[in-house]
Amino acid sequence: CGIVGYIGKEQAYPIILKGLKRLEYRGYDSAGIAIYDGNDLNICKTKGKVADLQHKCESEIALKGTVGIGHTRWATHGEPNDVNSHPHCSNSGKLAIIHNGIIENYESLKTELQNRGYIFSSDTDTEVLVNLIEDIMINEKVKLGKAVQIALNQTIGAYAIAVFDRTKPNEIVVARLGSPLAIGVGDDEYYIASDASPFIEYTKKAIYLEDGEMAVVRLGKKIKVRKIKDDSLVDPYVQKLQLNLDQIEKAGYEHFMLKEIYEQPSAIKDTYRGRMLADRGIIRMAGVDDNLEKFLNAKRIIVVACGTSWHAGLVSEYIFEDLARIPVEVEYASEFRYRNPVINKDDVVIAISQSGETADTMAAIKLAKENGAFVFGVCNVVGSSISRETHAGAYTHAGPEIGVASTKAFTTQITILSLMALKLGKAKGSISNSDYHMYLNEMEQIPSKIEKALQSNDHIMKVAAVYKNAKNCLYLGRGYNFPVALEGALKLKEISYIHAEGYPAAEMKHGPIALIDEHMPVVVIATKKGHYEKVVSNIQEIKSRKGKIIAVVTEGDTSVKNIADHVIEVPETFEALTPLLTTIPLQLFSYHIAVMLGKNVDQPRNLAKSVTVE
Ligand code: G6P
Repeated sequence: CGIVGYIGKEQAYPIILKGLKRLEYRGYDSAGIAIYDGNDLNICKTKGKVADLQHKCESEIALKGTVGIGHTRWATHGEPNDVNSHPHCSNSGKLAIIHNGIIENYESLKTELQNRGYIFSSDTDTEVLVNLIEDIMINEKVKLGKAVQIALNQTIGAYAIAVFDRTKPNEIVVARLGSPLAIGVGDDEYYIASDASPFIEYTKKAIYLEDGEMAVVRLGKKIKVRKIKDDSLVDPYVQKLQLNLDQIEKAGYEHFMLKEIYEQPSAIKDTYRGRMLADRGIIRMAGVDDNLEKFLNAKRIIVVACGTSWHAGLVSEYIFEDLARIPVEVEYASEFRYRNPVINKDDVVIAISQSGETADTMAAIKLAKENGAFVFGVCNVVGSSISRETHAGAYTHAGPEIGVASTKAFTTQITILSLMALKLGKAKGSISNSDYHMYLNEMEQIPSKIEKALQSNDHIMKVAAVYKNAKNCLYLGRGYNFPVALEGALKLKEISYIHAEGYPAAEMKHGPIALIDEHMPVVVIATKKGHYEKVVSNIQEIKSRKGKIIAVVTEGDTSVKNIADHVIEVPETFEALTPLLTTIPLQLFSYHIAVMLGKNVDQPRNLAKSVTVE
């Protein structure tokens, strides 16, 4: 979910609405706004997207006023409908709240409140929270800030909230635990949002609340931040934001996803800028340099991540083992945290997360830390929760990724992890000096090779047109390209809703081969090296069962061209770096299919960019 708030001298509605549009990638099954006009708190909310909300608000009520809150939702409790949309009001109508997260013990709190006469119109945990706050204000005769604090100390769960009291319209109370919350500091005005994108055009000054902190955002007063647990005051750190507006707008592309696919050459350059000095044979990464002993003494590396980031972790397994000779395990964060994993003090845990906010990854990090492991973060969002929770880390610097289906975050994660593997391989002596230099030089070529791979876009669009009505699709790859097959299948599922499976090519004969007939398109990554001959045999097996073959091959390949129905070429590179190239056509293939099917590419149904629930 995304939350936005404004309090100041400007009209709040346009600011909040624009902010919600920027945050829509965080969730978009319903949305709502509440604006205080000096007398009444006017609320407009609806199932659907922020555009639906805008239509509803502008055709129903004029939302005038200089203070308000807004929300775009990714449903957890209660189906997405008008009633379950935020903001939610307390029974008396005095308080309104927006909430991102989950209150786990909401049922027992709800029963208690019902016994005291409270009535609930929605199925949400949020409505329980706002009534709990009101109940505390009445019974304990305390002001909003105090009541929020007492209420939060009774809840179990995760939240970023903003609460407004219509009888005290010069303040908004905010708090966070597990879900991000930033306060933009303007001149006599404040902004509240899940990340800085809604207020970046108005102010570059931001305060990021830490977990367990709350603040009363009051006009004409400095922000006071307190710990929710013990009420102690915290000195708020006002950060200067680097982000600019261009980075979060579409720059002429039809979709954010396409823009982000095309940004990969420059994003990768940004990832290694200042870190990789190929001509001098240096890789400088402060987070690794400062902890080199830990990495060199590591008996193993455990990677924890979710979704696409988990796929980047799988690629890193190959490269860390290959170049640095450190055993690697790659874990779904959600599985890792809920079993009883064996974690040793000399394990290095690498947490990979684009958003830096994924709840399961965060919990896995906490568990690893409790067990004494050194935890290293690979995040894209600067200042995100995971980047703060880890002992050290490296940012991918891919710039904001708005499309829900991850693209440039993936390739920049692989870039960072490859640099780490190279650096450690060199330090351990597990790769020769000459190989190390060759890798660095090749790495430098990757952005221009991606440019070249992107030139196949028109051809890929034509191939996509042939298969857009497929019901299923199989993706096969071996070695370094097995995770790429998984990622290719995930991209297609996410945005086109076509069922797709990724498989290690050799495993095909143990099951998926039964699915192959003339209706089954099979995307095979068959680049030179990387068990090329074996993959070619797999292609023959598909061919003899009449499957349709779309092969991603190395430039100039002729053998596969003779058997496959379609080939898409990528430039040649070292085997370990092929995922950075072979991923590109798969991203474009799913993008074009989704566009041709008329799907919402940037905001696929049911998904969210940043999953801050478990
Ligand atoms: C969600 C997103 C995916 C992403 C995953 C992990 O499911 O839709 O694109 O890969 O979360 O997110 P993270 O921010 O931790 O990389």
